Formats: sequence, structure tokens, C-alpha cells
Amino acid sequence: DSFDTSNKEKYRPTYHHTPLYGWMNDPNGMFYKDGAWHLYYQHNPYGSKWQNMTWGHSSSTDLVHWTHHPEAIRPDGLGTIFSGNSVIDHDNTAGFGAGEVITLYTSCDKSQVQSLAHSSDNGMTFTKYPGNPVIVTPNEARDPNIFRNSGINKWNLVLAGAMDHEMHIFSSPDLKEWTYESSFGKGYGAQDGVWECPDLFQLDVPGTNEKKWVLLCNLNPGGKFGGSATQYFIGEFDGKKFTSDYAPEDTLWMDFGKDHYATVTWSDAPEGRRTAIGWMSNWQYANEVPTKQFRSANTLPRDLSLFHSPEGKLLLASKPAKELADMRGEARSYGRFSVSQKGRTFRLPDGKGMEIVMDYSLNAKSDVSLTLSNANGDKVIMTIDAKDMTFTMDRTKSGEVSFSRHFPAVTVAPLSKDAPAGTIRIFIDSSSIEAFDSEGRFAMTNLVFPTQPYSTITVKGKGKGKIKKLNAYKIK
Ligand code: FRU
Repeated sequence: DSFDTSNKEKYRPTYHHTPLYGWMNDPNGMFYKDGAWHLYYQHNPYGSKWQNMTWGHSSSTDLVHWTHHPEAIRPDGLGTIFSGNSVIDHDNTAGFGAGEVITLYTSCDKSQVQSLAHSSDNGMTFTKYPGNPVIVTPNEARDPNIFRNSGINKWNLVLAGAMDHEMHIFSSPDLKEWTYESSFGKGYGAQDGVWECPDLFQLDVPGTNEKKWVLLCNLNPGGKFGGSATQYFIGEFDGKKFTSDYAPEDTLWMDFGKDHYATVTWSDAPEGRRTAIGWMSNWQYANEVPTKQFRSANTLPRDLSLFHSPEGKLLLASKPAKELADMRGEARSYGRFSVSQKGRTFRLPDGKGMEIVMDYSLNAKSDVSLTLSNANGDKVIMTIDAKDMTFTMDRTKSGEVSFSRHFPAVTVAPLSKDAPAGTIRIFIDSSSIEAFDSEGRFAMTNLVFPTQPYSTITVKGKGKGKIKKLNAYKIK
């Protein structure tokens, strides 16, 4: 253990998933089985920049504490192993056995083709299908997303037509023979860069017996704040064709930070949950962030649901996975007070991992800002503005920022119209901040590299505002 490099670096997160060693990008192949959440990822086992794509593997029983396993799928004659996902074949439709884990991924050599692998030991080891590739497309397409569609009693597959800004839809009785059905996307939503890592699933419409289909579409570059980001579409899907409920020019963002990409969900999650996780970085600077033995973490896992905005729009909510509430340890309560221009400063708990929870109420013309800072003068300013109904995070002076001109940034999320009063949850780790409206009506994920941990929080603002509760919890 004298050569153990893990968990020593100052920017190594304390409660976010990271590879033990080496580079990581997209989360891949996630499924839940026998009490464990399995997470695979785009891994370079030999260094901390993007190369040698292999599927790394971790699993967790609580979505926060992760156990690392050996590499699950390694490059072969068809190429390196790009992104994809997994399903459990409960009815043995593919003929590899009932309950087999079936994975589709992109084999990347000179071209990109789709390949199948399966596992009979809950995803520890995989056997590649001798008939690979199972799909070859005329134009570059990658990142297969497969799911059982009970509506048509078949499997569906969505493939990202990266350069074409289209998601291609296929169907299959057995996960091996795929029939092309249609494509969605031309002219819809954000169209820059490439479209990657799709995910298509159903969610309940609150207050009705209806369900709607949600299509996640990761794109890079072309995100709202530059570089990589996740947009989504809501609509109808009949097993052949996806139709958006929104006009082509309506772009919907899943997260309003700069570091939320390649977000996809788990198959077979328990209790009907639809739980997502993203790669917490941005292709603009992912290879340059100031870590050494590893690069990149995952976002916190998030439970997804639909909600109606006060304007009557149906939108996607991302709440921190419910397990996170159980991770709250020792608390500091800063009490109840009125917001003032002079402000109040409190000491944060020691350590790098914490959750800050604030209940606030503002009148229409007021704002409140929370500034995290340390003795070196690094600071992050988060502002709730009831005038513009926005939540803003400014990381321009957050610590190490000069490794990329794209890193210093101010990101802005719209607040729900009924949010002059509400609850904000802010998760801080050694190199990230994730802020959520407690109902998940906005999420904002940003990396930060403070030269030492933020040690104080200052609350100040203009106009009439009340802080009804401000707590900081250490993460257990
Ligand atoms: C997205 C992506 C995918 C691809 C993978 C390669 O970040 O570009 O489209 O499969 O990364 O590592």
C-alpha cells in the first residue's frame, strides 16, 4: 500500500465518484441489480488524459459510497470501447440466459460501430458477442441507449447521430437484430457541436394518470455557458417515432452550470425511480483541470421527475438522489435573521464535504448573496435575485482558474416564479459546487479549485429579505 495514490490529492472529491487512478469521462452501462447500483465509465487506465477508452467499473449500495472493481470491457480488434448502456434481459430474449446483463457500446476504430457484450455475474465480467458489430450506420453514430418498451413488447435503441444533430431510433426482438425506425432532432433545440449520449425514458405527469417520454441529449460544444451541456426534449414515443411537445426553437436545459455532461440514467432502478448521473466536467478544459493522478468525478446522482412550472410548462426536475439526505452529519445552524447590506459572516464546518441548506423569503425587489471564501481570498458568489428571478454562481475568483480561458465563468439559472420564498441546497466538495432548488426545479453544477477549502460563508443583500434557516451539514 506504499504506492497507493488514491484519495491523496487535494482536489480528490470526498463524496463524489472518481476513478482510483487515471482519466474518466462519460458514465456508461448503468443498471441496478440485487441491491447494487452499477456504474461503468469511460476510463483511461494508463494515464490521466483522454485515451485508451476502456470501461471502468464501480458499484454502490447507497449511490454515495463506491467500491472499485477491475476494468469491465477492454479494447479489442474492433477498437476502443466508447459509451453505451445496459439492460437486464429478464425474459431471455437474447438467448444468453434469463437475468443476463446485456450491454451495447460503441466500438471506435477508424469508424464507429455498435457492439454487444453480456454478463452472467452481475456485470463483473463480460463476454463479447461473436457477431459484433450488431449495427453499422452510414454516418458516424455512437453511444447506444437500449431499453425494454412494454408498449411494443420489443427493445428500443437510440443512437446519437453526432454530426447530424439527430437521434436515430431502432427496435429489436432480441437485442441482436436491429431495425431502423426513424430519426428525431433536425432543427430541434440546441444544434451546435455534436449530439452525444442519448437516453429515452418515461416519467409520470404529476396530477394525471399520463406519462410522457423524456429524451436526454448531450451536446458539445453549444451548451448554454459554452462547451458541454445536457438538453432534453419532452414528448410522445410509440416505439418507432419520437415527437416533441415543444416547438423546435424551445431549448430546455437539464442543468445550468458548466460541468454537467454525458448525463444518462440507470436501468431497472428500484421503486420506479429514474436516477441519473453525469460526468462533472466540460470538454473545454477537462484534460487541463489541476488534478494529477486522476481526472474528473461524476456529478451527484439525481432523481428525475416532471413538474409544471407556474407558467404551465411541463419541465424536468433534478433532485439530489434521496440517499443524500441520509448523509447529513454534524450540523451548524446559523439561525434566522434579516438580510442586510452589511452582511453576516459565519464559519463553515471544517473539511471539504458539506451541504448547505437555506430557507429564504425575499420581497419582489430584493436579492441575497452567499459568498464562500477562504483566507487566500478565493471566493464563490451565489446570488438569488427576486427582481430577475435568477440564481447565479460566479466562480471567476474561486481559486485556480487560469488553466483555461474557458474556466472563469458566471452561470445563471431561471428561478420558478413562485420562488421569492424557497429552499436552496448547496453541495460543496473539494472541487465542486452543485446547487439545487429543493424541488429540483433548477440544478447548477460547477467545478471550483480553491487553493484551500472555503472556510466562511457571508450572507448579504439588498431590499427586504429573511433567512428563515441556514444550516451547514458535514457529509458523513
Ligand atoms: C462524450 C463522448 C461520447 C463517446 C465518448 C468517448 O463525452 O464523446 O460520444 O462515446 O465520449 O470517450
